[in-house]
Amino acid sequence: MSRVKAAVFASGTGSNFQAMLEERDLACEIVLLVCDRPGAAVIEKAKQNRIPVYTFEPKRYATKEAYEKEILTVLQQAGISWIFLAGYMRIIGPCLLHAYQGKIVNIHPSLLPAFPGKDAIKQAFNTRAEKTGVTVHFIDEGIDTGPIIAQQVVDIYPSDTIDLLTKRIQKVEHQLYPSVIKQLIQNEGDL
Ligand code: GAR
Repeated sequence: MSRVKAAVFASGTGSNFQAMLEERDLACEIVLLVCDRPGAAVIEKAKQNRIPVYTFEPKRYATKEAYEKEILTVLQQAGISWIFLAGYMRIIGPCLLHAYQGKIVNIHPSLLPAFPGKDAIKQAFNTRAEKTGVTVHFIDEGIDTGPIIAQQVVDIYPSDTIDLLTKRIQKVEHQLYPSVIKQLIQNEGDL
C-alpha cells in the first residue's frame, strides 16, 4: 500500500520540519517542501534530507490567488493529501483552503486563542503569564484560528529568559507535532 503523501510549508529555520523528518513512524511521507522565502534556513535542511524544495516568492505574483494556484498545481501533481504548516508565516487563502479542506494543519507557540500571530512566545513572556504552551490546530481563514486538535502547557518560570522559554517550547513542539500528525493519519485510515 502506498503511503499518504504530505507537504510541509515553512518560512524560517525549519526545526519543526526537521523533527517531522526525524520521526521514524510519522505514518505519512513528506514528499516536498514549499517555502516562500528564498534565503530561509529550512531550504538547506530539505536539501540535506533530499526533499524537493519549491520556492514561491509571493511578490512575483499579481494576486494571492495566482500565487496559491501555482502551489496547488505542484501539490496536485505530487499527489499530496495533507499540508503541514511549520513556521509558514502567511495566511492560507481560499484557493488552498478549498482544495485542502480539513487537511491543513498548523503549529503555534502559545495556548490559542491566547497570543495569536507573530512573536507569540515574546507576547506571553512580556505579559508575565505563568503559563503558555503549544497548539496544533486545523487552518481556517483566520490568523491562528481554526479548530484545535491538541495543546500542551509550558510553564513560565520567574527566572526564565526569552531564550530559555523558547527552547522549552520548541522541545514540546518537536514532540507534539509529529505525534499529532501520526494520530491524524492513522485516524483517517481507520475511517
Ligand atoms: C515555531 O515555533 C512555530 O510554532 C511558529 O514558528 C516557529 C517556526 O520554527 N509558528 C507560528 O508562530 C505560526 N503563527 P521552525 O522554523 O524552527 O519550525
